[in-house]
This record gives sequence, structure tokens and C-alpha cells, in this order.
Amino acid sequence: MDEPLPAQSPLDRPIVIAANRLPVMRTEDHGWTPSPGGLVRALYPMLRESGGTWVGWTGDPDDAAEPFSVDGVDLHPVAVTADEIELYYEGFSNDALWPLYHDALRESTYSIEQWDAYHAVNERFAITLANIAPENSVVWIHDYQLQLVPGILRELRPDLTIGFFLHIPFPPVELFTRLPWRTEIIQGLLGCDLVGFQRPTGAANFIAAAHQLLDAEHVDDRVFHRGREIRAGVFPISIDVAEVEAMAAGRATRQHVSRIRARLGDPEVVMLGVDRLDYTKGIGLRLKAFAQLLEDGRLDPARHVMVQVATPTREAVEAYQDERAEIERLVGEINGRFSSIGLPVVHYLYQTLPYDDLVALYRAGDVMLVTPFRDGMNLVAKEYAAAHIDGDGVLVLSEFAGAADELTDAVLVNPHDDRALQDAIVEAVEMHRHERRERMAGLRDQIRKSDVQGWAHRFLESLADAGRSE
Ligand code: F6P
Repeated sequence: MDEPLPAQSPLDRPIVIAANRLPVMRTEDHGWTPSPGGLVRALYPMLRESGGTWVGWTGDPDDAAEPFSVDGVDLHPVAVTADEIELYYEGFSNDALWPLYHDALRESTYSIEQWDAYHAVNERFAITLANIAPENSVVWIHDYQLQLVPGILRELRPDLTIGFFLHIPFPPVELFTRLPWRTEIIQGLLGCDLVGFQRPTGAANFIAAAHQLLDAEHVDDRVFHRGREIRAGVFPISIDVAEVEAMAAGRATRQHVSRIRARLGDPEVVMLGVDRLDYTKGIGLRLKAFAQLLEDGRLDPARHVMVQVATPTREAVEAYQDERAEIERLVGEINGRFSSIGLPVVHYLYQTLPYDDLVALYRAGDVMLVTPFRDGMNLVAKEYAAAHIDGDGVLVLSEFAGAADELTDAVLVNPHDDRALQDAIVEAVEMHRHERRERMAGLRDQIRKSDVQGWAHRFLESLADAGRSE
């Protein structure tokens, strides 16, 4: 593995992060603990080093907690009212932007009331940042919920260096221009010094939208607007590889893996899906492919089982309720047809599992199915490869996940093509040990080259450069 990057920030200035959610969760005794996940683990040590701050929502309505600190990092809550949760979060963010940015897989709802709430919450974030960011500091804003923040903040605090990273895809202009507030969104993002995307197509789509809507000229990745220069860069996000590997290597995990396999009836092949229960993830399509393979006798319920973990998410949004109902109907139908007593062929968990349980499941999975219709990156694909310290296991990966750009040793598939998906699953199940190991070695080399710490460093270094070139 490459030399691990130092925990400290690559910058000589304080950093302020803004994201919809704070990186902490409430504990049972009413305290706070850092949330699990690579992003938090990557940014936390840097914030501690730089004396930085994280600005975000606690996740509860009307929660106007005073600023506090956890493990040496200052946290600054932004209050979001119950109405705003409905209009800004469930509404504009997740019922207008989310589907539109994911290939318009569902019809977006466009409502002026929701837009006004989105604007109001973004303004509140920007004002909070303007009040707390030290002079000439670096502000790094995350994701589609906060796209207006850079523009408002630039007006309030021209001294700041402002970066933004979009964790989800930026759609093609033909789709993006459906949005009634498309110009405001582009104007918001152009308040940055650097806008980061997961894939080159995201950056190109953004540059094209800035040109079409605001006549912004560009040279390569530099966009020119109102006398300023804005860089549009590509920074594929990753995971904390060392953390996943260490968990996977632990004795407790090894024992857990044996228990999982035994409880599944010691099948020949465990197929695994791990997703937030989101209609972008292609869970239903994967279940249908599995059912068809059982029907055609290409898979055998006595030898092949599937485990599908679906993490609850955005449960108040109707499209998510519909998706859940459809998945649960399919699981019931498949188990009804193909299971035998005590041995379901699909094991379905609608639960948020602790990270160590997930890592054990990854290790227990012989074939990992990651089949989104569209996904910004998909970190599950990377976690699966990181967990397979045994060098075995096959990843079936949708071409429409950002991870497909890097994880070319996966069995890549177009999930819209049901026959191709079925063939990819059979290819993975029947793959010869030698090829499995060769491909897994390729996947593991790739993720070890670029972990989340490296991602954060590269972004912040480019941001500092972009800020200097003003
Ligand atoms: O990357 C997409 C994203 O919305 C992140 O912003 C967020 O952390 C994650 O998915 C989970 O979504 P939510 O905060 O809506 O539960």
C-alpha cells in the first residue's frame, strides 16, 4: 500500500466544513459520538489539526443546539424546522433534485414553496458560515442540499476560499435545464473557487450548463464568470481502506463470517446486496434477475442464496415508500416460490447494521451485486473489495456507478439489460478461482491507491491552488 497520508490538513489555514448533516450522532446518554463512515473519519483528524469547524443539521426538527465539540472538533448546528424538513430536505432536495440528478428515474416535483425553503435553509447555512469562518479561511461545502451556499457566502465573505463537492452525479444539460431554478443553482455553484465532481462527465455537464445558462466561457477545467475563475475538477471519493481491512482481519469478524454462512445453511455461493433502500440502486431489478435464474435452473436454491440488506432512508418520501413495497413484494414472491422450510433463498434485512456487521457480511459474500441505475460513486463496491483480504470474491458492478471508472476488474454490466445482468451473475457465480483472485487483486490494488484520506488531500490542495489563482 502507498505510504498512508498524514492525518493533518494539507493547508496552513483553518478549514470549515458545511454539510447537510453534522458528522455526529446522539448517544443513548444524550451525548454525541462521531458518525460511522469514511468521510467523517477522513475529515475529522484534519479538522482537529486545523482547529476547524463543521456546520450542519443535527437531523432533528427545530434542534437549535448551541455549538459544541466532540473529540476536539467544533460543531456548529444549523436549525431546520419541521416544515423545512418537509420542504427543503424531503421536498426540494430529495423529491426534485435527487431524481433529476439521477437520470430523472422518477418524476421530480417542482414546487415554489419547496424552492423557497431550500433557498431559506441555504441562506441560513451561508450566514452561519459567514459569521464563524476565520479571515481568509477555507470553506468546503458538501452535496446537492447546499448548492446555493457558495454564491451567497461569496457575496458575504469575498475573503474566503470556497470549495464544493457534489457527491451525486451532475446531470446532462438536457435534464438539468428542466429545473425551473437551474440558473440560480449554477450561479450558486459559481460562487466557488473549486467545484468537485465524482466523474469527468459530471464536470463536463456542469461546464456545459454554465455556458448555456450564463454564457460562462471555459478553457479546459477553468470556467470564467463575472471576472472570476472557477475550477471544475474530478475527485472520485473513496473509503477508509485501512479501517475496513483492519475490521475484516479481526478474529471477531472471522468468527462472525462462519456464523453467517452456517446460518444461511452453508450454501455454495452467497450473493450479497447492500444498499440504502433507494430506487436508484436497482434492488428490484437484481431480485428479478435472481428469480429468473432460479426459474430457468441456471441457479439452484439449494446451492445459491441471496442476502439483501436495505438500509432505511428518506422514509417520508412517497417514492421511497413505493420502492420498499415493491422490493418486499418481490422478496415474498421469490421466497414463496423457491424456498424450503427453514431455508429462505432470499434473506432480506430492512435495517441499519453496525459497520462491523456489514464488514463481516462483505467477507461472507462470494458475489457482491452492485447494480444501480445511476450512482455518484457507490462506496459499497469499494468496501467489498477492501473487506476481501482473502483475495477472493467477485464484484458485479453497474456501468452507471461512478466506481465503474476505477473498478474495471469487476464484472461490469448494463443493469437495464436484464439478459446481460443474468449472464453477469452466472459469470460471477461460475468464475474460476484463478480469475476470481486475479480480478480481486486488481480491485484491491486500485482502492489501495486512492483512499478517502488521499481524496480529501487532493481536493484541499486543489482548492488552495484555485484560491491562490484569484
Ligand atoms: O451522497 C448522497 C447523500 O444524500 C449524502 O449527502 C448523505 O450523506 C447520504 O446520501 C444519506 O442521505 P440522507 O442524509 O438523506 O439520509
